[in-house]
Amino acid sequence: MTDTDLIGALRTLEREALAAVAAAGDEAALETVRVAYLGRTEGSISKVLRGLGALSADARPAVGQEANRVKGAVSEALEQKGASLASSARGPSEDLTLPARTPWRGGLHPITQAVDEIWHIFRDMGFTRARGPEADTTWYNFEALNTPLDHPAADEQDTLYLVDSVLLRSHTSPVQVRTMEAYEPPIRIVAPGWVYRRDTYDATHTPAFMQIEGLVIDEGVTFVDFKATLAEFARRYWGSDTQVRFRPSFFPFTEPSAEVDVKRVVTKPDGTKVETDWLEVMGAGMVDPAVLENVGYDSERYTGWAFGMGPARIAMLKHGVDDLRKFFENDMRFLAQFAE
Ligand code: PHE
Repeated sequence: MTDTDLIGALRTLEREALAAVAAAGDEAALETVRVAYLGRTEGSISKVLRGLGALSADARPAVGQEANRVKGAVSEALEQKGASLASSARGPSEDLTLPARTPWRGGLHPITQAVDEIWHIFRDMGFTRARGPEADTTWYNFEALNTPLDHPAADEQDTLYLVDSVLLRSHTSPVQVRTMEAYEPPIRIVAPGWVYRRDTYDATHTPAFMQIEGLVIDEGVTFVDFKATLAEFARRYWGSDTQVRFRPSFFPFTEPSAEVDVKRVVTKPDGTKVETDWLEVMGAGMVDPAVLENVGYDSERYTGWAFGMGPARIAMLKHGVDDLRKFFENDMRFLAQFAE
């Protein structure tokens, strides 16, 4: 072949190669084209380049230049086609200039946060954590707690019975009884958990809600210990300028009984400090001796106190939430505000 024949043959190869590149429908087909023309051993353009050494010194530069140009043109066509096949495989609607998705960050539910904060304060004061079953018997939920079954609280109007004498606990107080049965004094526990009542779902009631029970039993435990410990809890939870008030109340399992109210000092957005109204935060009292006798404790030797509070209510007060249902409807716009 003369040099002109060789150059003509290279141009034919170029045309064929470019047509084959254009026709390749996917990345595998494109790779076959690359191997056929530019493959190291069998590629037809590579072969021409390899044969340059056999040409006369006069012919070599012109043929060499043309062979390199053809190789470059075909390489570039292969590269462009490769990029366009890759991007159409991703789909035309993808916009690579959009910012990346930020990874999802989970957070604790505001009621769980309240339970943890409350429990941690009592833990720091030497309490341990206890738990009991959510389905329990009328004995643990009422009778052992000095509440006769004809008491209104035991009525089917208020309590969710599963079968005769088995119910969904209506408060966490049965954990007091179960703990005292299982251990000897001294006892210092908090017991968070779900409780159930036949309530209509509205802004201040849900048929299932959380309570945190507390119980202290030992020799020589007095009303002063009771008031001082709960006042200390209130100051640690709501701030050192919080005032605490014990209002006389009634529970069958405590005597005397009290409702505990707090009055907080809050800072308004303009920086001024104002006192809130009195807010009821828990029911409490000195454990009734009849309850101690029911678990086989000597009520002459031991005394104690107990409380029950609702962390959802406490979370509502803390965050200024006006409707309890917001905690249960899992609207991420609401819940995300509490992520830490
Ligand atoms: N169990 C009571 C309730 O559900 C609260 C309470 C607990 C009161 C412990 C006194 C002592 O309302």
